Amino acid sequence: MTNKSDFALEMIDISKSFGNTVALSNVDLQVKKGTIHGLIGQNGAGKSTLMKILSGLYPSGTYTGQIIVDGKVAELNSALDAQSIGISIVPQETTVADTLTVAENIMLPEMSRNPLKVYKKSGVVKRASEFLSSYNIPLQPDKLASSLTLAEKQILMIARAIYLQPQVLVLDEPTSSLTGDEIKNLFEVTRTLKSLGITTVFITHKMDEIIELCDSISILRDGKIVCQIDRSGFDVDELVSHMIGRDLGDLYPPQHRVGQDAPVVLKVTDLVVENPRKPGQPLLEPFSFELRQGEILGLGGLVGSGRTEIVKALFGHYKILDGKLEVQGNPIQTRSVSESISHGFGYITEDRKAEGLFFNLAIKQNFTASIIEKLTRASFLQKGEEKSRARVYLETLQVKPQDLDASVSSLSGGNQQKVVLGKSLITDPSILMLDEPTKGVDIASKAEIYKTIVEFAKAGYSVLLISSEFPELLALSHRVIVFSGGRNVGEIASGLENEKELMLMAIGATKS
Ligand SMILES: Nc1ncnc2c1ncn2[C@@H]1O[C@H](COP(=O)(O)OP(=O)(O)OP(=O)(O)O)[C@@H](O)[C@H]1O
Ligand SMILES: [Mg+2]
Repeated sequence: MTNKSDFALEMIDISKSFGNTVALSNVDLQVKKGTIHGLIGQNGAGKSTLMKILSGLYPSGTYTGQIIVDGKVAELNSALDAQSIGISIVPQETTVADTLTVAENIMLPEMSRNPLKVYKKSGVVKRASEFLSSYNIPLQPDKLASSLTLAEKQILMIARAIYLQPQVLVLDEPTSSLTGDEIKNLFEVTRTLKSLGITTVFITHKMDEIIELCDSISILRDGKIVCQIDRSGFDVDELVSHMIGRDLGDLYPPQHRVGQDAPVVLKVTDLVVENPRKPGQPLLEPFSFELRQGEILGLGGLVGSGRTEIVKALFGHYKILDGKLEVQGNPIQTRSVSESISHGFGYITEDRKAEGLFFNLAIKQNFTASIIEKLTRASFLQKGEEKSRARVYLETLQVKPQDLDASVSSLSGGNQQKVVLGKSLITDPSILMLDEPTKGVDIASKAEIYKTIVEFAKAGYSVLLISSEFPELLALSHRVIVFSGGRNVGEIASGLENEKELMLMAIGATKS
C-alpha cells in the first residue's frame, strides 16, 4: 500500500454544484510531494472550482468529499485556514490591491494575520525587496500596484503567494498574461520551489507548458477526472483528445487570399501616439501601415513593445499627436471611443476585468450592451430581438452554459473571454482590433474562435490581430508587422515556419 504521506495533497470524491450546474462530480486528485502537477481541461471543466475548494474559498459544507493535506484530513473554511496548513493559491482573475504598493501587497496576508502589529513602511519595503531579489522577481517594491501592467500584476500575485512559504502552491492559469521571458522566469521559480520540496498544481491551456514543466497531470472533463498521466506518457494529441473527448482536427482554418488589388481600408501614416503619463510627449516612434479589405494583419512583438497602445490609440483611448489616418480613403480622427466606433472600428481588450465585461449582468445583456440603442424602440427594449441577436453569438462561440440568462460572473474564465469577443462582433465593425482574443481559452474553443475570425475576414471585413502566441499569430495573419521597443522593426510573412524569425525580430536581434 502507498504511504499516504507520499502525497502532498489528496482530494477524494469531491462533488460540487451551483444550482443546476454540476461543476465537479466525484473528483479524485492525488498529487505527489515535491512534484509539479498539471491540471488541464476545457473551459468550464471545473479546474478553478476544484482549486477554490482547496483554497478554502468554498468552505466545507458547500461541497461533498474530503481533502487530505500531507496525510491529514483538512477542514477548510476560509482562505486563512488553507494558508495556515500551507496552501497558497494564485487565482485566475487579478486580485491585487490597487491602492497599495507592491511591497504592501506582498506582505498583506501577513499583516492581516497580525492586525495589532505595527509595520514600518521602510521595513516592509526592505523585506519585500530582499524577498523579490532572492527569487529574481523583477518588481519594484515601492511602486503603486495601480501603475503596474497586467503582466506585472500577475507576477505580483505569484510573488505574494510564494512569500507565504506554502507547501502546496496552486497557480490557476498564471501565464495567460505573461510572455517569453516572464514565463521563463516563472518556470525557474517553480523549479526552485520544487527543489525545495514544494508541490505545485499548475493549471494551463498551453500544451507546451505542460510538456516543459509538469511531472504528471490530471485531466478534467465536464466535472470528472478522465485520467491521470505521468510525464513518460505525455503526448499532445492524446492529451487533447482526452480533454475534449474527440480528435481536434485542424486547429487553424485555411487562409484565404487577399490580393494586392484589394482596397486599402485603413491607412495609417506617420502616426504619433501620446504618452498618457507624459502629456505632449510621444509614446512610440511614428509608424505607418496599410490594412486591406479582408486582410488579417498581425501586430507582433513582446509585451511593452507598443502593440496594445497602437490599437488603443485607434480606438480613441490614447491621444494622437501627429500623423494621418484614413478609412476607405477619407481622412478621419479617433478622438473618442464613440468617434472611433462611428468609423467602423471595434476593439477587444486583453483585460476583461478592467475594460471588457459587466460582471453583474447576464450573458445576453453583455452581448447586446453596445447595440442597446438599436434594440430600443420608443424607449422600450425589444427583448425578443435582444435574445435572438445574442443567441447567434452564444451558439457560434459555443459559450458554456448555453444559457443567455446566466450571469457573466458565474462563467469560467475562458467562457468570459468568448463573451468579450461576441460583445464586439455584434457591433458589426468593419475593422476589428483583437488584443489577445484567445487568452485563457481552451484548445477546442480556440479552433472555434479562429474560425469565427477567419469567416469574419472572408466576409470582407478587416482584422488587426495582437497575440503573444506566435504560432496563432503566424497561422491566422496574412502578414505580421513586428514591433520592438516602441518601434516598427519590419514585417514577416504568414506561416508557422517563421516563428524563429519573428522571435528574433521581436527581441531586436535582427532588422529588415
Ligand atoms: N459562482 C458560480 N456560479 C454558478 N456557476 C459557476 C460558478 N463558478 C463556476 N460555475 C460553473 O461551474 C463550471 C466549472 O467552472 P470552472 O470555473 O471551475 O471552470 P474552469 O475549468 O476553471 O474553466 P476555464 O478554463 O474557462 O477557467 C462551469 O460550468 C461554470 O459555469
Ligand atoms: Mg478557470
